[in-house]
Order: sequence, then structure tokens, then C-alpha cells
Amino acid sequence: MKGKIAIHARSGGFSDRWIEYCQQKNIPYKTVDCHSSNIIEELADCSFLMWNWSQTYAEDMLIARGLIKAVESMGIRVFPNSETCWHFDDKVTQKYLMEALGVPMVTSYVFLDRTTALEWAGMTKYPKVFKLRGGAGSSNVFLVNDINKAERLINKAFSTGFPPVSRWNALSERWWQFKRDKTFISFFNISRGIFRALIKNPTLERLPVQRNYAYFQDFVPDNDSDIRVIAIGKRAFGIKRMVREGDFRASGSGKILYDPELIPEACIRMTFDLAKKTRSQSLVLDFIFSDGSPLVVEMSYAFASHGYLSCPGYWRNDMTWVEGSFHPEDFMVDDLIVSSVERS
Ligand SMILES: Nc1ncnc2c1ncn2[C@@H]1O[C@H](COP(=O)(O)OP(=O)(O)O)[C@@H](O)[C@H]1O
Ligand SMILES: [Mg+2]
Repeated sequence: MKGKIAIHARSGGFSDRWIEYCQQKNIPYKTVDCHSSNIIEELADCSFLMWNWSQTYAEDMLIARGLIKAVESMGIRVFPNSETCWHFDDKVTQKYLMEALGVPMVTSYVFLDRTTALEWAGMTKYPKVFKLRGGAGSSNVFLVNDINKAERLINKAFSTGFPPVSRWNALSERWWQFKRDKTFISFFNISRGIFRALIKNPTLERLPVQRNYAYFQDFVPDNDSDIRVIAIGKRAFGIKRMVREGDFRASGSGKILYDPELIPEACIRMTFDLAKKTRSQSLVLDFIFSDGSPLVVEMSYAFASHGYLSCPGYWRNDMTWVEGSFHPEDFMVDDLIVSSVERS
């Protein structure tokens, strides 16, 4: 290894474990700030950059894709590299990519003008699902039961638009967590949620309003759960997430099942295949099922790693099972360093 790993440190993300792992394995690293104007200079003694950039930071969304390209042009290997994250937090882009690669996906519709969208809304069958391009934990995913609701959403999309993170949605999410857990912490979170709904959060406020497009999908009925598979290099692991009570949305429900028997082999194979095709270092696919066949709902490079600590093992890409708990972040570090050695 020529130089250090530069790690953008941000507590609560992948970097907590990246740092711990580098310390344990005596891998040389230093922490950097990808938001600083002299980040390129800071990377002078580094061969690698690791940055768990996220959709909840306006600053990340503004510069990450461009900065990563620039850093790659210096010969520095990045996690996530451009191939892994160019479509991150953009479901509209992902629709084009899935179609381009022939990946089975829920039928999706993008409209860039109001008239076409309203014409379609007048002709299509309901229910449909309306989504914003970005967001996580189901926060920007809505069921559309009839034309009236579709028209309201379309008119809003082509006028005032939608906040990328709705504080009221966040509050109803905390209410769901309280109903689910009935713990003191979830009660405390509700109080905090009310506070946050009233007081603006400056980081979230800086994210751009979502407007001038409308994105719909066919509603796929009868799914009481979704399946999420994550491939990092030659390993994959998965979880099953149950929907919230009285709701069709699983993402963010926190009702997670870890039994590997529940993960259909087809989903694991599709994730490995797509990761290989797109040359992704880390690929997260969410699946729902139509007549038993898996359909991709969205893709990502990132995930909340604490939700996977209870995975009892992972599959290798030859579908053999490796028993035992693991930190997915370690795989990211290992792959970044090893693939560099292989290439040099
Ligand atoms: N077209 C659809 N039909 C039925 N259920 C859906 C559809 N799209 C999403 N869902 C459900 O809603 C959840 C959130 O959707 P998703 O697009 O993954 O958004 P997020 O980025 O918030 O996770 C999924 O986990 C799935 O359970
Ligand atoms: Mg999802």
C-alpha cells in the first residue's frame, strides 16, 4: 500500500467502524473533511478515500459526485467510487439504469411536464405509488388510490414542489416507532419529533425542494414485506423487512427478520449479477414480489449498518454460506486495499 486511507469521519455512519477497523489492523489512515476547500491538497499523502456521503446532508449532495470524480482522476481509489454511487438517492436515474440493463423492475413513469402527467393520470389504472427521487425509510413514498390524489400530487410537483424531508412525515414515523416499541426511548423520540417539526433543521432545510417532475410506479399488491440484499464485492447478505401495520411500506419499519432461509436465492443472484454488471463496490437492492417474481424497487450503495449486525452470516458469490457475524464496513476497507494491490 503506497499511502494512507483518508476517511471522512462522521459519527453514526460507516466511518465509525472504518476507523476502528483500521486501528485494529494497523492500516494507516487519517481523517479528512470532504467539505473543506483544500480537500485535494489534504489527500496528497493518501492512496484511498472513504466517504459515507448521505442524502441527509445538503453539502454532500452538492459536491460528492463531482469531488469523487476529481479524486479518481488523481489515481486515488475511492469508496464509494463513481460507478458505485452515480445513481445514489435518485430513483428516476435508477429507473433508466434498470431499463437499460433489462433488470426486472416495478413499472415506473417519469413526467417532466404537467400536461403529459395529467393526461396519463386521466387514463391510467389505480392504485399507483408516488415517489420523490430521493429519501429513505419510505418517507417520500405515497399510495395514490385515485385520480384526484394523482392530480393533487402532480399539480403540487409542478408548482410549489415537495420538501425533500418532510418534518411532519418524520413525526408520524416516530409515532409508528412508539406504537411498535412502546418504550421510553420511543416516547422521548416523539417529544423530540414534535420539537423538530416545529423548529427547522438547518441541514435539512438546505436540501433543494423537489419540483418539476412527477414519478409514479404501478402499485404491486399483497406484499407484507420487502427483501433487501446487499452485495459487497464477493459477499452478500440480506434481511426481510415487514411492512408497518395498516401500511404497504416496509423500508424503515424496523421490523426486521434475519433468518437467511427467508431470502430467495433469486434475489441474491440478481444482486450479485447487477453489482458485477455495474461494477459496484457495494450494491443494495430492495425487492418486492409480483406473482412470486422479484422486482427491484430501488438501489443504493449505502445502508444503516447497525440494522445488519444481527445477520448470522453471508453468502459468497458461489452461493456458499459463511456462518458468523461480521461488520460490512470491514469488507469495504478490505476490498478497497486489495483491489488496489491487485491492480498495481
Ligand atoms: N411500487 C410499489 N408497490 C408496492 N409497494 C412498494 C412499491 N414501491 C415501494 N413499495 C414499498 O414501500 C417501501 C419504500 O419504497 P422505496 O422505493 O424502497 O423507498 P425508500 O427509499 O424510502 O426505501 C418499500 O420498502 C416497499 O415495501
Ligand atoms: Mg427502499
